[in-house]
Formats: sequence, C-alpha cells, structure tokens
Amino acid sequence: MTTGLGTVLISEGEIRRRIAEIGRQISKDYAGRTVTLVGILKGSFMFLADVIRAISLETPVEVDFMSVSSYGDATTTSGTVHIEKDLGISIDGKDVIIVEDIVDTGLTLLHVYNILSARGARSLRVATLLEKPGKSRYDRPLDYVGFKIPNKFVVGFGLDYAQRYRNLPDIRVLDDEA
Ligand code: PRP
Repeated sequence: MTTGLGTVLISEGEIRRRIAEIGRQISKDYAGRTVTLVGILKGSFMFLADVIRAISLETPVEVDFMSVSSYGDATTTSGTVHIEKDLGISIDGKDVIIVEDIVDTGLTLLHVYNILSARGARSLRVATLLEKPGKSRYDRPLDYVGFKIPNKFVVGFGLDYAQRYRNLPDIRVLDDEA
C-alpha cells in the first residue's frame, strides 16, 4: 500500500502477530530463568517495548539499554561504531538477549556482541525485528528474527531516516526507494 509517507512493507498487524510469537518463544526458551534484555538505542525501543510485554509474566525480565551509533544521518554505513551510552547494570552470569531493530551489515551487532560476551554473560542471544540480506560482518545465527526484508532503506516502528519517521506504526520504504 502506498501512502503519503512511503510504501508499507510490513503492516502493524503483521508486526503485532510476529512479536507475540517471538514473546512466546522467548518465554518457552527461558522458562525458569531470568532473562536480561539489552536494547540497542535508539531504533530498538519500540520492538523492545512490545516484545517485553509479550514475554510471560512467569519469566522474570530485566532490561537495560546501550546507545551505539554507526550511521549518522546517511543511508549508508560509515563502517565505524561508537558507544555513546553504556549499560548501567552488570550482565555477569546473566542470560542476555541483545535486542535490535535491524541487522543490516551486521557491524553494529558484531561490536555489541563482542563487548557483551567479554563481560561474562552466562548466555548471549540476539533478537532483531528485521534482518537484511548479506549481514556479512556478523556470522553467528540470529536467534529471534521478526522478518527478513529486501535490501531497501526502511523506516518506522523505531527506525529512522535522519531521525524522522520512528513514530510510524509500521515498516515502510520511502517512495523514492520503493
Ligand atoms: C541502526 C540500527 C542498528 C544498526 C544496523 O542504528 O538500529 O543498530 O543501524 O546496521 P548494521 O547492521 O549495518 O550495523 P543507527 O546507528 O542508525 O542508530 P539508531 O538506532 O539510533 O537509529
């Protein structure tokens, strides 16, 4: 569907249903354990907010955030990652899930994974709402993936273009990219 603000690639309903499934899967996989979600700001905030509510109340959940930037205001990666805000809690001995909105080149995830795995987490998994093809920089499997998408620049549901469009309730391709 084409709208005044790009073409909808994944609708609100599809996102809601898929996140509910991921929440059920996490609840099953971590039954009897406490899980620590680490959201990578800013893009992951909306996915994390929904997925945390989709996890069973019988599974205790902790949450913290890191701010990592690799893109600036351009649509292509700069190839570098800066940690702008670090975690406020220790993850030593914890079962951690890194929560991302999108894995594109995999560069951000590669850096975050390496940083967190050096901090003594008991286990470390990855949940991402979106996965683009060719994530060559990160070669481990992604444990929880919402949707595999084509190699288009997408916005909405937390994802931005020059800091805009994060508030869209769905995932869209801007018109000149559709
Ligand atoms: C985006 C996104 C991921 C990363 C994915 O973050 O949120 O963290 O890029 O790209 P990669 O796999 O090629 O590394 P960005 O740096 O744009 O910051 P933001 O989340 O604040 O928008």
